[in-house]
Amino acid sequence: MREILMRPEMYKFNTFKEFADEFKVGERDLIFTNKYIYDPYVSHLNLGCVTCFEEEYGEGEPSEESISKIFDALNPEDYDRIIAIGGGAVMDVAKVLSLKRVGAVHDLYFRKLPVIPEKELIAIPTTCGTGSEVTNISIAIVKEDNGNTTKLGLVDDLIIPKKICLIPEFLKTLPYKAFASSAIDAFIHGAESFLSPSRATMTSELFGVKAMEIILEGFKRIAEQGQDARFDYGEEFLTAATYAGLAFLQAGCATVHAMSFPLGGTYHVPHGESNYLLFGKVFEKYDQINPDGKIAEFKKLIASILGGSEKDSIAALNALLEKILHLQPLRNYGFKETDIEAFADSVLANQQRLVTNSYVPLDKELIMEIYRELY
Ligand SMILES: NC(=O)c1ccc[n+]([C@@H]2O[C@H](COP(=O)([O-])OP(=O)(O)OC[C@H]3O[C@@H](n4cnc5c(N)ncnc54)[C@H](O)[C@@H]3O)[C@@H](O)[C@H]2O)c1
Ligand SMILES: [Fe+2]
Repeated sequence: MREILMRPEMYKFNTFKEFADEFKVGERDLIFTNKYIYDPYVSHLNLGCVTCFEEEYGEGEPSEESISKIFDALNPEDYDRIIAIGGGAVMDVAKVLSLKRVGAVHDLYFRKLPVIPEKELIAIPTTCGTGSEVTNISIAIVKEDNGNTTKLGLVDDLIIPKKICLIPEFLKTLPYKAFASSAIDAFIHGAESFLSPSRATMTSELFGVKAMEIILEGFKRIAEQGQDARFDYGEEFLTAATYAGLAFLQAGCATVHAMSFPLGGTYHVPHGESNYLLFGKVFEKYDQINPDGKIAEFKKLIASILGGSEKDSIAALNALLEKILHLQPLRNYGFKETDIEAFADSVLANQQRLVTNSYVPLDKELIMEIYRELY
């Protein structure tokens, strides 16, 4: 069993300025971020860095087209290090940017090209979040051979950033909805890795359980005190998201992520939100099909955090999540009845790395049943 792969050196700073001083950030650094993050936190320091703003190359989550445009806009000879400041989207693009350019972005994601590290990458997450700063995955929207779009993960240990910094200051400007969907995503990382049948390890469980405890404690505060309660708990959320990343780096994500990818790829539903749309139903099905396996321990854990009985803990969890983000039917996002079967086929064709981690065997019928009930 492969145990913890804590490849990055991990740092925590209160402010970006403290980080910039410590790391002697200067003109041979590329700062890859969003303009609305750069302006309030970085520009006044006049560091003289090369800059690139992700949103100028395409809307929404990274795609093979937007990444190709960013490649064209940057000359790797202009910088030695890449400092990525942003959510999972910025982080995932930066991972690919740190590689030697050996061909088309499409071919990289479809594993037709080798992954060769070139630039040092320092990852600073500003959502709480994907855990991408510690994982070996970069996700992009890609075109399948049949012309459909989906999301595909490029998975390779060589793309794990060498250094990561947690700087809670950045969360001050994160809009509530982006906060909520990214924190739910982090919770789902903890939950899916906890149930991962063959890949869960001692340390994935340690980090996953801690992440789920911290996040649910924060959600309880928000449910009781309102959305602003997140600001006094930012460092905890940020830390929990990284813990959840360490958990799923080892144990893997599963059905929720697998079924969310065609949805995100086709209808541009943000990653955390599209996972959330599937999470409650998937876990209900898990509980119906195999209530006595590891999910019994999951329910015990949730009941110990939320109070109430183990039997009702999944319902109580879904009720708490509803207070954080309103759950809507898939059709509100553009999902059509014909997608039920088409998405099931796409999941089985493209997401086997996730399908194999499902807590119950995942076949086409079950996938279609879940989509249908959420339609
Ligand atoms: N590599 C991995 O391990 C992994 C895992 C899960 C998801 N992902 C990918 O990560 C992406 C989702 O990441 P995310 O949930 O962090 O969202 P995101 O990166 O899409 O960011 C959400 C929104 O918030 C903005 N934002 C981020 N931080 C901000 C801040 N501090 N202040 C103001 N605005 C801010 C972003 O610009 C964006 O508009 C998806 O592309 C998904 O596929 C990657
Ligand atoms: Fe995720």
